[in-house]
Amino acid sequence: MLRSNTCGALRLDNVGESVTLTGWVQKVRDKGGMIWIDLRDRYGVTQIILQEGTTEADVIEIARTLGREFVVSVKGTVVERFSKNNKIPTGEIEIQPISIDVLNESKTPPFTIEDETDGGEDLRMKYRYLDLRRNNIREKLVLRHRLMQVTRRFLDAQNFLEVETPILIKSTPEGARDFVVPSRMNPGEFYALPQSPQTFKQLLMVSGFDRYFQIVKCFRDEDLRADRQPEFTQIDCEMSFVTREDILHTFEGLTKQIFKELKGVELNDFPIMSYDDAIQYYGSDKPDIRFEMKFNDLTEVTQNNGFAIFDSAELILGICASGCAQYSRKQIDALTDFVRKPQIGAKGLVYVKYNEDGSFKSSVDKFYSQDDLKTWADAMHAEPGDLLLLLSGDASATRKAMNELRLHVGDLLGLRNNSEYQPLWVVDFPLLEWDEESERFHAMHHPFTSPNKEDWSKLDTAPGEVKANAYDLVINGVEVGGGSIRIHDRPTQEIMLSKLGFSKEEAIAQFGFLMDAFEYGAPPHGGIAFGFDRLCALLGEVESIRDFIAFPKNNSGRDVMIDSPSPIDATQLEELEINIKN
Ligand code: AMO
Repeated sequence: MLRSNTCGALRLDNVGESVTLTGWVQKVRDKGGMIWIDLRDRYGVTQIILQEGTTEADVIEIARTLGREFVVSVKGTVVERFSKNNKIPTGEIEIQPISIDVLNESKTPPFTIEDETDGGEDLRMKYRYLDLRRNNIREKLVLRHRLMQVTRRFLDAQNFLEVETPILIKSTPEGARDFVVPSRMNPGEFYALPQSPQTFKQLLMVSGFDRYFQIVKCFRDEDLRADRQPEFTQIDCEMSFVTREDILHTFEGLTKQIFKELKGVELNDFPIMSYDDAIQYYGSDKPDIRFEMKFNDLTEVTQNNGFAIFDSAELILGICASGCAQYSRKQIDALTDFVRKPQIGAKGLVYVKYNEDGSFKSSVDKFYSQDDLKTWADAMHAEPGDLLLLLSGDASATRKAMNELRLHVGDLLGLRNNSEYQPLWVVDFPLLEWDEESERFHAMHHPFTSPNKEDWSKLDTAPGEVKANAYDLVINGVEVGGGSIRIHDRPTQEIMLSKLGFSKEEAIAQFGFLMDAFEYGAPPHGGIAFGFDRLCALLGEVESIRDFIAFPKNNSGRDVMIDSPSPIDATQLEELEINIKN
């Protein structure tokens, strides 16, 4: 080893020892007679001190040539610091060097490599390898590593086998577009990169593997957001001979273990909520239940009073912001502006202040008496001092807007603390979802999800009402994972595919291999996949998953560091028999 210790290791106990440290020069402070160097590596920062009269002149000379991010080796003695720095673990000692060797020089980095950097997002992405030297980014990858280890240990102890599945496959419909890869040996034909290993893990169940997992890359060509990357990682799992309850129990166990080991948090048993309740009370299939503020349906108590906007609305919803009756005009206007933003889409906001003295002041006083407003307040279990916020219109748009307003008010009231965790299972999703554009049903989860037995008869008469044996794990309003009990026989899978608009031929061409396998003793099975990057972000208490990925893509799906995607040369295109029109 070129070093005896790391830059994070030395303490008062080591005083007097001769050591060799290696690392990057974070900072040099030259005050004439004294020079201080902060030497950094993955483990921490150690101060090197040079003093005219004490340190050899040639060592001081070398120190004066050092620039930021030079890689050096420092030999010296550990001494107690005169003025201690209690902000860093090595802050009680420093090194008096007897030699400094420059192992490699560095150009001046394009941004400062410290916790608070002056580098903008684009620059840091271009020089991602330098950004990764910063503590707060490196720590995110350390967390990612630890999450992988806890997961592997837990699942291994429960008899799960980690099996790798192929990356060059045929399209698996998970609702997004595929990334495709042309095949040179089969001109005009393409592989697809897996959106998930869904069909392979089901085939492994047919093979009798019984409990499978994989920490696996998935690829989806979809619009990117803070919690979406085109290339992301799943903890993908499948089990045979299980009920929904077995799966929820097993993966609740994994989640609890993760939070215990990585956050020191003991999670309570996870509540279970039906999809219908989630939509009715929170307007979202991933409700943030760190706070209440449930929706109240006020359609009946508010209509037929001459207020045209309410009278013509399909749905009128209210939420109660506790203790906000004193909100100023400006604060209420800000809420109105919020709901009117195009991405929220409401036309306006009705408010009712339930004053401490029991009286009401509202934006619709012209249409409603104090008694009317009291009826609303009672229907919402509001108390004097509360502020009622109402939205109205088309049912699904109103729920969507109210969900956003609820989350926004939750933020304003400090009810969404990122270090508090409230997990929730959402179950009984609809099996099918009507798509206006293609005028046909789509599988809400995926086509391999089994319908609830009781609803089977409705598949012909009322397909939209059939519930699926599917579940999502939601933590703090983030969809962390999703899965289902699968169809495991050919006739049911055939019916399902035909409901999704596949002709018999199309179904065989795309999923014949899976349906064939179902004819050779497929066990009943089910599974789940966790969004690994999202779990990292939750544990790291931030929204964006990007910094938990060593080399992420930007919002346009580009890797600006390696400049990808990029054109390929003409010979490669020719070999692949691909013509690109200019
Ligand atoms: P699903 O499509 O719900 O299920 O994906 C599982 C979980 O993966 C995460 N996720 C993403 N994370 C980052 N970027 C993305 N683009 C992205 N897309 C999804 C989410 C999501 O809950 N095969 C099924 C699982 C199963 O049925 O077993 C599947 O992939 O956290």
